[in-house]
Amino acid sequence: MLRPTLTGLGLLLCASIAGAETPAPLALTVDVAALGKAISPDLFGIFFEDLNYAADGGLYAEMLQNRSFEYSATEQASWGPFSFWDLVKMDGGEGQLGLGDSRPVHANNPHYLLLTVQKPGAGVGIANRGFDRIPLEAGKAYDASFWAYQTFMGKKWAEGVDQKQPMSVTVRLEGKDGTVLAEAPLVVTGRAWTKYAVTLTPSRSEPEARFVLVAHQQGGLALDMVSLLPRDTFKGHANGLRRDLAQTIADLHPRFMRFPGGCLVHGTGIHAYYDWKDSIGPVEQRQGQRNSWGYHQTLGLGYFEYFQFCEDIGAAPVPVVTAGVCCQHAGDSPGRGQEGLPLAEMPAYIQDILDLIEWANGPADSPWGAKRAAAGHPAPFGLKYLGVGNEDAITPEFRERFKLIHDALRAKHPEITIIGTAGPFPDGEDFEQGWAFVRQEKVAMVDEHYYRSPQWFWENLARYDSYDRQGAKVYVGEYAAHESDRRNTLRTALAEAAYLTSLERNGDIVHLASYAPLLARRQHTQWTPDMIYFNDTSVFPSLNYTVQKLFGHNTGDTALPATLAGAEKSARLAASAVRDSKTGELIVKLVNGDDTPRRLTVKLPGVKAGSTAGVTTFTAPSLDAVNEDGQPAAGKVESGTLPASAEFTYELGAHSLAILRVK
Ligand code: AHR
Repeated sequence: MLRPTLTGLGLLLCASIAGAETPAPLALTVDVAALGKAISPDLFGIFFEDLNYAADGGLYAEMLQNRSFEYSATEQASWGPFSFWDLVKMDGGEGQLGLGDSRPVHANNPHYLLLTVQKPGAGVGIANRGFDRIPLEAGKAYDASFWAYQTFMGKKWAEGVDQKQPMSVTVRLEGKDGTVLAEAPLVVTGRAWTKYAVTLTPSRSEPEARFVLVAHQQGGLALDMVSLLPRDTFKGHANGLRRDLAQTIADLHPRFMRFPGGCLVHGTGIHAYYDWKDSIGPVEQRQGQRNSWGYHQTLGLGYFEYFQFCEDIGAAPVPVVTAGVCCQHAGDSPGRGQEGLPLAEMPAYIQDILDLIEWANGPADSPWGAKRAAAGHPAPFGLKYLGVGNEDAITPEFRERFKLIHDALRAKHPEITIIGTAGPFPDGEDFEQGWAFVRQEKVAMVDEHYYRSPQWFWENLARYDSYDRQGAKVYVGEYAAHESDRRNTLRTALAEAAYLTSLERNGDIVHLASYAPLLARRQHTQWTPDMIYFNDTSVFPSLNYTVQKLFGHNTGDTALPATLAGAEKSARLAASAVRDSKTGELIVKLVNGDDTPRRLTVKLPGVKAGSTAGVTTFTAPSLDAVNEDGQPAAGKVESGTLPASAEFTYELGAHSLAILRVK
């Protein structure tokens, strides 16, 4: 609760402090007149990885699961090509499902469904319930499509049947009780793979619908890429993104987005890495595969969609490619599984990376720029960062391949900032060796990762104060404060907030930072904690999300000296001050990770008496508080103003973050 009070020093903004003991007074002094340090304009961003069903079944708006019949037991033991599909036989219909692979719609998409209708009855076909459920909204348009050809007409192998007779089908959305909510007839004709599409608009909302496609004559159909996408995607793009999730991400105001991983980039073995070229072009030609997290990635959300999303939300794209080695944990060999691409394959691999830069930035008439233009984006995307490697063990194999890639990129694209890697931890052998290697090779930026306790974050607020300013810049590519039970408590959120003040203070050396992981679908989560949880209809941002959002909305371009005096050694207190030269505002952030409110004398020499400060506070009932799905958020953000001057008093609430903006 914000409560303005009159004091001798002017108006005081108080948090409710009933019953709390008042500890020693503190003073925060900001050298408002200082030139300060220029800090990264891209400091706070996001890291998107298709983990926890973040892409398929998540941000990617496709509503049907296993749309191209490529699920397999290599992904999950119980899965096969018909997983999440049911055979539908209506009113006396008889038929079967089979699997085809001899005449695929595209070599990258090898399997398809063979539907045989022996007796049509009221229809024989297939049904899909999506990822858990298919929620539909009344009156909204859904684009249903599929690829098909007629395998035969009438009876298989029978003589004298009119093989040219077309096959009529119905595409339908059904309620859980079987009610038809929308349907459309279509006619499949001939032996050539053809895309059929229709728009369905359900007559009523339905939380648990199913998609049905049935055929009405005796005969056979080959079916592939059976898809249902809402028309109402983020920014209205075809093959687009789920609007609510995309908007929640956009609301963070991230300055960059790293993608597609993480471990996902390595894939499951040396030749199973994420190949960006498999992820572009018509969706039926993309090469889905098992992703590192044990499920299927369609690549329907591919590089074009990633770059487009970055552009839509004003984030610089930061794609990551492997360094020509697979993960050291690949092949069920913890720590010993790293292999390198054969050196003979490295020139082609490096060419793929150079092609990526041309695809992103080249003119529309260049070979790869033309593919971007053909996808609907003739203008370059403006790629300026590229990650090479992720948490790799720093071995001779790694060094040799990284150097080959790095040398080629520097020679051909000195304008791109290459981001190297320093292993999976904030210290230790790979970290030390990674940094030594980066210094040796003069890599522009290094990706550091750490998942540590909240206490670790508080104890490491000075981590970057002593980093070499002449050396590589830092990208804190993955970080999160982890409780032992991995809950998203206020304790973790405030530890991260405190840490972000230290990154801001060091924004001259720390250039980028992103919390990890970003998204997690409830019931399909391989990793916790995450920043944003969701199910098929709702989004559940964590307390950590709110911290990220508050920092994303309160950035500056210059860090000013800010000194907190009078705090006990054990106190969990942190502060930073930045100037935003565009608005001329001074932005002060204060974090209190303790359960006691603190009174501060805020000294802002030069700020005129009678000035006004905007104040935003964030707290929750206790350090153990978490946001519960579907409940009102435990975390409360409140905004107000207070009179500011060269010196005033501010009551920093217990376990809270406060942001003051002073003109
Ligand atoms: O963020 C989850 C995983 O953590 C990433 O894929 C990997 O880079 C790290 O180990």
